[in-house]
Amino acid sequence: MSQLALVTGGTRGIGAAISRELTHKGYRVIASYASNKEAARLFSAETGIQTIAFDIADENACKTAINYIETEHGSISMLVHNAGITADSTLEKMASDQWHRVIRTNLNSCFYLTQAVLDGMRAQNFGRLIYLSSVNGLKGQRGQCNYAAAKAAIIGFAKSIALEVANKGITANVIAPGYIDTEMVRAVPKPVLEKIIGTIPVGRLGTAEEIAHCVSFLADKHAGFITGSTLSANGGMY
Ligand code: CAA
Repeated sequence: MSQLALVTGGTRGIGAAISRELTHKGYRVIASYASNKEAARLFSAETGIQTIAFDIADENACKTAINYIETEHGSISMLVHNAGITADSTLEKMASDQWHRVIRTNLNSCFYLTQAVLDGMRAQNFGRLIYLSSVNGLKGQRGQCNYAAAKAAIIGFAKSIALEVANKGITANVIAPGYIDTEMVRAVPKPVLEKIIGTIPVGRLGTAEEIAHCVSFLADKHAGFITGSTLSANGGMY
């Protein structure tokens, strides 16, 4: 049977492109989503990819969902942790809830999901853990101290896990996308976004497919010697 991949936030934007790409690569893909049922239904109808709804910021929900997936479909061979949120504001104006929501969703979820999938990967002596960080986790971004802190922390997290599981055929890597043409980026105020695009040497936003291609590269069975690394795809921005 083909290997099983879980893509969080896998029904929209970058995650949807990743789900499609891994399906083409021969994986059985389960795409998770938080609450947008209609987008998930349309995505599933169009691609045939199965979806599951759970809150990645909730430890019990993660455990229950992974347990359910593995009982129904077998052990997960690849986790692509792509789901994340923004709640942009300068520090001066940031509410405590904006800080905690972003840290819980973007960072705590790495701990919950990885712990839940690792036993299955250890038993297979194979696994691919791929985490989506951001150029802003590398360089910082005005208005994103919460998001940048979580996205930078993901890199330290993945490097540490890489060391813990290297002898089990499991790799842990990070992709740090730049500004990609998604709903999240289109939500940035237009004049600000125009200034940001002006700082991208390639002169345009990236595409979700370009990030899916990075996942495909790290997912490959020949990528077993790449672990603890961060792959940037940001049009030369940083
Ligand atoms: N680069 C250049 N100029 C910027 C800037 C930036 N990144 N961010 C803000 N500015 C400029 C504004 O254009 C504005 O200039 P003027 O005074 O000349 O008009 C000035 O700084 C003040 O900005 P705002 O009026 O927007 O200030 P605010 O306090 O109302 O809002 C903010 C501040 C929330 C940071 C808002 O500017 C903003 O949303 N910035 C974008 C933050 C961002 O990049 N988010 C990325 C979301 S997508 C993502 O996160 C995906 C990923 O991984 C890359």
